[in-house]
Amino acid sequence: MNQLSDRLNSLSPSATLAMSQKSNELKAQGVDVINLSVGEPDFNTPDHIKEAAKKAIDDNYSRYSPVPGYPALRNAIVEKLKKENGLEYTAAQISCANGAKQSVCNAILVLVNPGDEVIVPAPYWVSYPEMVKLAEGTPVIVSAGIEQDFKITPAQLEAVITPKTKALILCSPSNPTGSVYSKEELAGLATVLAKYPQVIVLADEIYEHINYIGAHQSIAQFPGMKERTVIVNGVSKAYAMTGWRIGFIAGPDWLVKACNKLQGQYTSGPCSVSQKAAEAAYTGTQEPVKEMQKAFERRRDLIVELAKEVPGFEVNVPQGAFYLFPKCDSYFGKSFGDQVVKDSDDLAMYLLGEAHVACVGGTSFGAPDCIRMSYATSDENIVEAIRRIKEALAKLK
Ligand SMILES: Cc1ncc(COP(=O)(O)O)c(C=O)c1O
Repeated sequence: MNQLSDRLNSLSPSATLAMSQKSNELKAQGVDVINLSVGEPDFNTPDHIKEAAKKAIDDNYSRYSPVPGYPALRNAIVEKLKKENGLEYTAAQISCANGAKQSVCNAILVLVNPGDEVIVPAPYWVSYPEMVKLAEGTPVIVSAGIEQDFKITPAQLEAVITPKTKALILCSPSNPTGSVYSKEELAGLATVLAKYPQVIVLADEIYEHINYIGAHQSIAQFPGMKERTVIVNGVSKAYAMTGWRIGFIAGPDWLVKACNKLQGQYTSGPCSVSQKAAEAAYTGTQEPVKEMQKAFERRRDLIVELAKEVPGFEVNVPQGAFYLFPKCDSYFGKSFGDQVVKDSDDLAMYLLGEAHVACVGGTSFGAPDCIRMSYATSDENIVEAIRRIKEALAKLK
């Protein structure tokens, strides 16, 4: 019996979560798997944040919070946006949710009518097109290959804007490519958008603090953009707090109010203790963030250097996040024994089986010629993983 809705049936499962699960299953069988499929820092949450959470429990932060989050947390986010991004918001323009994932989904659900188009540059984070489909909208995919550092141009953006375009989802630093739009590149996109005032920008800035180029740039900084941009951010990646589930949006009043209305009906405010922890993250020392950023940068340098030596891989130099996204299509059509590698998903399965390294094929990121490797792991793991990958790839004929 399948009583499931069409909405659910048309949804794809998350490929990244699926690969992590496969890798954990193999590990549980005793196989020495190196997991490069994860989308989270390998660091622990900094101690002062954990202490704030413990105190919150003792102080009885155990009841429902306001739907958009405690005022103290939203004020801390307002301060963060002012100090780090030079952007002025009020606490009423902030809404906290169960992770940036829910923040993105809330914004899409309150904006998109059936048939509305949402522009999604590819390679994209796996969940964007699925969330648009959940809202019965149409994802309009614009592809940017490795030759353009996986970033769309203003001309590409303009070419796909139609009267039905409701929103553009921009992710910088990007998952899965690590590419970062420069201030000039964002200005170019903003110039196009100025001609189409109906288009809302969903700016996913969850990897803001994991960037190797200096100050983070938000598209909201350009004239006329803040009023039509929804910034999505949160504590998951910057503060190694993926399990705490706190994300937020900052945006125009009407949109934030709508997200609060939606969230008020299906999840209410996020976890009270996690909110107090997130408040400590934003108001406390930022040293751990800098330390983690430094470690990621060192690992980025290491994995790029090693991956460049892998025959048949084409590698960009990611400027942020903790992913490498090599082009690997030179292996398509090759085989080892009875294993044929038709695409990057096959290649990921081959590498898991043969090299015991878990990566994620590019298909679900809208880039079937590439494969995603997360370097949120130790230097030793990175070195050993690339060694094993090289060895396994050499067997493909
Ligand atoms: C681009 C992007 N946006 C949002 C999220 C979700 O973050 P959170 O854990 O805060 O829900 C992720 C997590 O992998 C991501 O890569």
